[in-house]
Parts: sequence; C-alpha cells; structure tokens
Amino acid sequence: MKPADLVRRSAAYLEAHGVESPRATAEALLMHYLGTDRAGLYARTDGLDARTAKLYGRALCQRCSGTPLQYLTGEQRFMELSLSVVPGVFVPRPETERLVEVALESIAAIPAPLVVDVGTGTGAVALAIKGSRPEARVLATDVSEAAVTLAAQNSARHGLNVAVHQGDLLSPLPADLRGRLDLLVSNPPYVTREEYETLPEEVRAEPYEALVGGTQVHERLVELAPAWLVPDGWLVVEIGADQGALVQALFEARLDQVEVLLDLAGRDRVVRGRARAR
Ligand SMILES: C[S@@+](CC[C@H](N)C(=O)[O-])C[C@H]1O[C@@H](n2cnc3c(N)ncnc32)[C@H](O)[C@@H]1O
Repeated sequence: MKPADLVRRSAAYLEAHGVESPRATAEALLMHYLGTDRAGLYARTDGLDARTAKLYGRALCQRCSGTPLQYLTGEQRFMELSLSVVPGVFVPRPETERLVEVALESIAAIPAPLVVDVGTGTGAVALAIKGSRPEARVLATDVSEAAVTLAAQNSARHGLNVAVHQGDLLSPLPADLRGRLDLLVSNPPYVTREEYETLPEEVRAEPYEALVGGTQVHERLVELAPAWLVPDGWLVVEIGADQGALVQALFEARLDQVEVLLDLAGRDRVVRGRARAR
C-alpha cells in the first residue's frame, strides 16, 4: 500500500480509537519510521517493508492506548529547536514558549546575563534562552536523572552550552552563584492532585513528579529567589490558568514589580517579579 493510502487508513483507525488529530498523527508516525518529511511521504509510491510495517503498526496501537506521540517519534519542536524526547521526561508544551518570551524580554537590556532554569526537563527553556542569547551563561537543574541526561544530550545536539545539574531546585548550583543570578526561570510541576485524576491517559503517561505540585514549587522558589538573584534580578515562572492570584500574592510578599501575564488564549500563564535591593 502506498504511504498516502496508509495514512488515510491509519487516520480512520486512530479516529475510531478517539485519538486527537488522527491524520497528523498517522503522518508523523509514518514520517518517523520512513525517515522522511511530508513531501517525501506523499511522493513515495513503494509500500513499507515488513519490519517498518511491524514497527509502524505497533506504534499505532501504542498511540491508541495512550502513549504520547512524542514518546513514539522521540521528537518535539520547541520554538526554533527540535528536541529529543524520551519516556520518563516531560514533553515541552507550546504554552511554555510564552514563559521563554517573558524571560527573554526581562533580560533584554542585561549584557551577558546569568540565567538558571529550574526543572529543565528536556532542557527546552534553558536551550531556547541560550539560543536567543548566546553570550548568556545558562545553567539548568532537575531532580530527575533521566531529565538531566536528556537535557545534556539536547544541549550537545544543538551545540548550545548549558550546564545541567541534578538536584532539588537550586541546591546543586555552585555556591558562588548566590546573589549573582540575573534570571531565575522555571516551568515547575503545577497540576494539583485533584486535577491529575482528571487528566487524559496520555498526559498521565508523563512522570508524576513533573506534573503534580500545585503552587508548592512556586512558593519554594519565591523563598529562595532573594538570596540567589542580584538586586533587580528576575524570577519568572509558568503557572496554571487558575493560579494567577495565588502566585501573585506569594511573589508580592518578597519581590517587587510583580505582574501576571497572559498566554495567547488570554489565560493567566506567567508570573514575574524582581528582587528587592539588599
Ligand atoms: C512541568 S516539567 C517542565 C520541564 C521543562 N522545563 C519544560 O518546560 O518542558 C517540570 C520539571 O521539573 C522537575 N522538578 C520537579 N520538582 C523539582 C525540584 N524540586 N527540583 C528540580 N526539578 C524539579 C521535573 O523533573 C520536571 O522535569
């Protein structure tokens, strides 16, 4: 069967199993297994060899039973970057691009800023910042060993020098960075336990520790930020759409110039604030 016909049949199968964007999913999986792009896929008239057909068929089944597409293709686009993704590490989301935009805007006037991304996952935020500000010194942390390994691989893949450290929040950072950071940025786990139970299966396929935290990590970051930031340095965090007022209040207790910023859909998405003079 030609790939174009196979896409049609597979899309119908995926749709029948309630998979979102069935045609795009079938195309992405087939492009992955054939090692081609969309033009190559539709130009091809040969059928699949037995091995590729088996791998593709298995991936369709896994997708139908809730495995995220990105865990099957091993790739996710984030801003200008193609990032490697593996099961066990959070898949970067498009809404986090807003976090990066606000972070970059916050440090736009600072020459060679010192930046730390907490809870880096694939390295998405840290690498996007380093890609836009090559002269910045960028470090990243994560508690997850799998995330730290993957972020380091993505850093090498793109030739973007980000130092990745394993540990809780800021604890693995060199101590001499205390009081010197221009920007502390984080997309922490912020889903509540109750929300977690209602998430689709494919989201619950991602690590629990990367998803669930409510506003606890925000609170801990606000407590740590004044000691690690330069005066006027920025703490910029992503939040859940209904966490704006709560995180704003946490920020206002310790930071100045606090703002809640919206995403493209008009929902609260990012909170930022600046360290006070010591
Ligand atoms: C929502 S994911 C964000 C990943 C990545 N920054 C992104 O936006 O794609 C949260 C990440 O924080 C990490 N994490 C959770 N608790 C942490 C902690 N106490 N210290 C450091 N990292 C933590 C998780 O392992 C996960 O990789």
